[in-house]
Amino acid sequence: MKFKVNYILWFVVAVLVIGGIALVSLSRQNMVIPTGATKAQAKEFEEKYKELTPLKYELWKESAHGQNGVTCINCHGTEGFKEGDLAYANFSKVDPETCGSCHEKEYEGWKETRHVKAVDFSQKNVRFKLLDAYPAMQNQGCDACHTKVAETCTSCHQGHTTALPKPEEAAHEGEVVTDNITNGCENCHMGPDHPQREAYESSVHHQVAQATGEPTCVTCHTDPENNHYIIQLKGEHEEEGREKLWNNCLQCHTEEYVEDARRNVNAIKKESNRIVAEAKKIIVGLYEDGILEPSPGSLLDENGVPMLNAKGTSYSHVSHIENLMFELFKYAQATTIKGAQHFAPDYAHWHGLADLWNKYLAIKREAERLRMEAGLEAETGVAIEEYPMHKYEKETGNELQTLSNK
Ligand code: HEC
Ligand code: HEC
Ligand code: HEC
Ligand code: HEC
Ligand code: HEC
Ligand code: HEC
Ligand code: HEC
Repeated sequence: MKFKVNYILWFVVAVLVIGGIALVSLSRQNMVIPTGATKAQAKEFEEKYKELTPLKYELWKESAHGQNGVTCINCHGTEGFKEGDLAYANFSKVDPETCGSCHEKEYEGWKETRHVKAVDFSQKNVRFKLLDAYPAMQNQGCDACHTKVAETCTSCHQGHTTALPKPEEAAHEGEVVTDNITNGCENCHMGPDHPQREAYESSVHHQVAQATGEPTCVTCHTDPENNHYIIQLKGEHEEEGREKLWNNCLQCHTEEYVEDARRNVNAIKKESNRIVAEAKKIIVGLYEDGILEPSPGSLLDENGVPMLNAKGTSYSHVSHIENLMFELFKYAQATTIKGAQHFAPDYAHWHGLADLWNKYLAIKREAERLRMEAGLEAETGVAIEEYPMHKYEKETGNELQTLSNK
């Protein structure tokens, strides 16, 4: 009798446990079937690509999506079903609206960042236009950063892994993270023209983040209310945005300390702007005195003067002195400012300010040489013989002069 009661008890426990496991795994595999498709079709899709792209399948299976019943066609759509085959069109890009249909708050934040305007900034740029004959480079050398960040969630995430781009030390319980201290920002925010990655990685803050998980790019640059809203720093939002950004420092520092740091950054910006303006004045003087013709790789401003800035001047199709100017504002000045903004002394000074002066002195010397050459030419009639420019017209059929500042 005693034995029998024990037996029944154990049986009941076993049923409960097995039933519980079955229930949990059922709910885990509960697919979210998009409208216009059936569960069978969703399964068929999974099975087909399990054969065709086994690694993608495995990655997805292990991800938070695979584990929570978010299936292939939730992201890749159901268009193919209408034709009755499974050759799907939109494998290369999943719209943020699709991700946003399930992750609303992230979508709302993302939509309000300036990233969504990034295509405009690159494709209206003179350097992009000069690459019209070279679409492979437009694609890899501009769009792979600008278009990607403007049009996808997968600029910082990936399609098939859901591990969060943040340091392990900052993870909450149960979160799968990539231990990525630079939050996925680093693919684009790096290099000689915007070395935020290099500057941050050589700063004290990076050391602190390796130990504690913060501060990262996200700690400083996003709204405390929404980690997908990257605070805007330009245009109409500039003033309010910068206040917000510097306010984020107060999580860890005192007001006086932050004010001090901000004064330093602003002073460095001001001085580097002054050096750039001096260099520009030297070159504009050459145009005004008829010693230098504006080059086709430099757009004219509203007063008919070459812009000599990030928007309107290229490294190609310009004279040597304009090329030096390009390096001065696009690399040396950018590095000085971005190094200072991220408290990386080596970038602010040696990669930055020292190089700014190197380029300034080279521009000054080149202007003196051009003036002497012009004097000699007037005196002797001997002109310098120029090599023809690598032809743009030949490659595109367009007149280079038709590049406009719009
Ligand atoms: C959460 C959304 C999402 C889910 C779910 C998803 N994918 Fe993708 N997939 C993407 C994104 C985004 C890309 C574009 C490339 C990238 O960012 O990785 C992509 C790219 C692809 C590609 C093209 C790239 C290549 O290497 O050929 C294939 C094939 C693919 N996915 C198959 C699948 C299959 C099969 C499943 C289900 C087992 C699946 N995907 C589930 C988002 C998803
Ligand atoms: C059909 C709804 C659906 C779609 C579409 C979808 N997701 Fe998800 N996503 C989920 C669910 C459900 C989870 C797992 C539960 C959770 O963490 O919210 C998840 C988890 C994630 C996670 C992990 C969150 C964590 O805390 O670990 C990331 C990152 C993510 N999704 C990004 C994306 C991206 C990027 C896309 C588009 C390429 C996308 N999702 C499309 C429903 C969806
Ligand atoms: C490695 C990724 C990457 C590539 C490649 C790239 N950019 Fe950018 N670009 C960026 C980032 C990141 C910024 C923002 C830098 C900052 O604010 O400090 C930026 C800023 C700009 C800006 C200034 C926009 C503004 O804020 O006013 C212009 C103009 C621009 N890029 C044009 C181009 C053009 C044209 C190309 C191709 C010839 C190109 N970029 C290639 C990443 C890239
Ligand atoms: C500019 C880079 C970037 C882009 C673009 C981006 N994310 Fe994220 N995402 C992150 C980072 C970084 C984290 C981790 C945040 C943290 O430190 O807590 C994250 C976290 C997440 C999470 C986990 C929950 C959370 O909010 O912390 C989800 C879900 C997610 N992202 C979805 C999306 C969706 C959907 C989109 C497109 C609408 C998107 N992300 C675009 C960088 C990005
Ligand atoms: C400790 C805080 C902090 C961290 C961490 C941080 N930033 Fe910044 N960032 C700043 C400050 C402060 C500014 C300058 C604001 C100003 O000049 O008013 C700035 C400026 C910028 C700018 C705008 C540059 C411009 O021309 O004004 C970009 C883009 C940027 N950071 C990207 C990043 C990226 C990407 C990371 C991570 C690799 C990062 N930041 C890490 C504080 C931080
Ligand atoms: C796929 C490329 C890419 C990634 C990844 C990326 N960015 Fe950007 N970011 C850009 C480009 C391009 C611009 C300049 C064009 C623009 O402002 O629209 C930019 C501009 C910015 C700006 C200047 C915005 C303003 O209002 O002046 C900040 C700040 C910034 N990014 C921070 C981040 C942070 C933080 C991350 C990671 C969480 C990140 N970015 C990830 C490409 C990227
Ligand atoms: C998550 C905390 C945190 C945030 C947010 C943060 N810091 Fe720091 N910062 C630290 C820590 C910790 C140190 C290391 C020195 C110390 O122990 O105080 C440090 C060091 C510094 C230093 C000294 C750098 C050096 O080379 O010695 C400066 C300057 C600084 N922070 C400015 C800022 C500014 C400005 C911001 C906002 C844009 C900011 N910090 C945001 C934690 C933070």
